[in-house]
Amino acid sequence: MLKIVVCVSGGGTNLQAILDAAEQGRITGTEIIAVISNNIKARALERAASHKIPGIVISPKNYPDRETFNEAFAAKMRELAPDLVVLAGFLVRIPPQMVADFSNRIVNIHPSLIPSFCGVGYYGLKVHEKVLERGVKVTGATVHFVNEGMDEGPIIAQKAVYVEENDTPEILQRRVMEQAEWILLPKAIDDIANGRIAVVEDKVVVRQRGDR
Ligand code: GAR
Repeated sequence: MLKIVVCVSGGGTNLQAILDAAEQGRITGTEIIAVISNNIKARALERAASHKIPGIVISPKNYPDRETFNEAFAAKMRELAPDLVVLAGFLVRIPPQMVADFSNRIVNIHPSLIPSFCGVGYYGLKVHEKVLERGVKVTGATVHFVNEGMDEGPIIAQKAVYVEENDTPEILQRRVMEQAEWILLPKAIDDIANGRIAVVEDKVVVRQRGDR
């Protein structure tokens, strides 16, 4: 069983997609041992509670400075000792120590086709606002491993989604979730849990049958 901690900040529809996929057998060999949120009001925490998954709130707001928060957050993750950390709409930067502790064991879902529309200032609805401002015709979502950069780690999977005329940021966000995020993230978790992917020279490769 691959032990997973999911980190969330808001609605938690990606967490819900993971829970549904596990229930329906599209993710196998995993157990979510905790859901961590920086936001006590996150709807995602209710979703965790209704599945009897412990919810933990840890927010930079409750610490005197970012360094102290980072230390506490990294220590909590070491204590939980998951095999995989899933950032499912988690809008807090991961402490460098945690990235080092969990090298190639933290995955993030980002609502664009990286390296477009990512990095500092690109999160949640803002990504879709910028996509519409720029007028691109195709966007999408990316699942990647987290490294010390911002949205820069090895890419696991991507899916393209068309931008349509008259899209608002909210309509586009919903389409990207439905057509890409809620499919890609559960699939990536299942691939990791079942040993189907590996990181070789900073790139994700699909393991063939018989590979070690
Ligand atoms: C999702 O669209 C996710 O890709 C995005 O936040 C949203 C959370 O929605 N994450 C980022 O922007 C990370 N840079 P959810 O809480 O309903 O899953």
